[in-house]
Amino acid sequence: MKTYSNPAEIKVGVVGYGGAFNMGRQHLNEMRAAGMMPVAVTEVDPKRLEVAKVDFPGIETYSSVKDMLARSKVDLVTVITPHNTHAPLGLEILSAGRHCVLEKPMAITTAECDAMIAEAKAKGVIVSTYHNRHWDGWILKALEIVRAGTIGSIVRVDLFMGSNNPPHAWWRSSRSISGGILYDWGVHLLEYALQLIPSPITEVSGYASEGYWSAQPGHPYPKDANEDEAQVTVRFASGQRVNLRISSVDATPERGFIKITGTKGSHLIEWNDYETTVALPGGLIQTTRGKNPDGQGHKFYENIAAHLTRGEALIITGEWARRPIHILDLGVQSAKQGRALPVVHS
Ligand SMILES: NC(=O)c1ccc[n+]([C@@H]2O[C@H](COP(=O)([O-])OP(=O)(O)OC[C@H]3O[C@@H](n4cnc5c(N)ncnc54)[C@H](O)[C@@H]3O)[C@@H](O)[C@H]2O)c1
Repeated sequence: MKTYSNPAEIKVGVVGYGGAFNMGRQHLNEMRAAGMMPVAVTEVDPKRLEVAKVDFPGIETYSSVKDMLARSKVDLVTVITPHNTHAPLGLEILSAGRHCVLEKPMAITTAECDAMIAEAKAKGVIVSTYHNRHWDGWILKALEIVRAGTIGSIVRVDLFMGSNNPPHAWWRSSRSISGGILYDWGVHLLEYALQLIPSPITEVSGYASEGYWSAQPGHPYPKDANEDEAQVTVRFASGQRVNLRISSVDATPERGFIKITGTKGSHLIEWNDYETTVALPGGLIQTTRGKNPDGQGHKFYENIAAHLTRGEALIITGEWARRPIHILDLGVQSAKQGRALPVVHS
């Protein structure tokens, strides 16, 4: 692997400069804040390339990855495009011997992740995934409470997001493009849970309900719609379990989006607020409420830069980013087959 003596020598670029959340701008700003040098933007929409030129005056712009890889000296490229394009674009970048960061989800299938991990190894470059939410304030606080033993040993982690709402008219509502309803926030939620339960995964059960929203007039992808609701239950070697459920047909969502149940108490996360409840002798309970600390998502690119310059251990490796994808991939297959499936990558 090429070594750099300081982050400013690492030339960085992005593929995808979309307008939904201005993520291309966010990535280049965070890379620059970590000391690296933004040099290139590739985007198929010419209007968005114009936005990039205003945001980063003088930056190289390309309308295809092939062109960028042929003409630019960019060292590290981050892919910020719809989910079904991550693996083909990632492989193209890695095959050209450039470091590659993929927005989450790393890819849609385990096989796609395996292919990118193998290609990175073959070319002596890194493949990582932008799990900026690894450092969200609410998960940092939850890890602190769990590690202090306040709620005892974790029995179960429940992850839920949903409401009763029709899908938006955007690519995320197409199953073949997005991967399905679990592949957006579900990936972040599983990545939180895998931090909380450091045991090998043994088995995944998936469940899905579909056909309601796709039958309503005006659905953007009536023949290729996401599930209305999907769920995975993950079994760990330790006996612990994780339940993830994402729904677009749940009119009475639960309080909070993460609940950690332990042998001595529970920890409920409601975005910036948390509630820790501990069981006391005599059937009493004690509840502590508080605000979660600020997130530290900037640590993602700081770690990438430190890895490439000083050999600091990479926190979000390709193998780590593959774990939630493996769970979702097996969950989708399990829902179709109606039975639990054993894992390959624990
Ligand atoms: N980590 C986070 O917090 C976070 C937040 C938002 C989005 N995301 C992720 O970012 C990715 C992009 O989502 P978005 O909301 O920015 O979508 P978006 O639709 O706003 O942007 C995607 C852009 O990619 C461009 N594009 C598509 N194919 C291309 C190609 N082959 N070459 C160059 N450009 C191409 C499109 O023209 C579009 O401008 C997704 O993986 C999404 O899950 C992550």
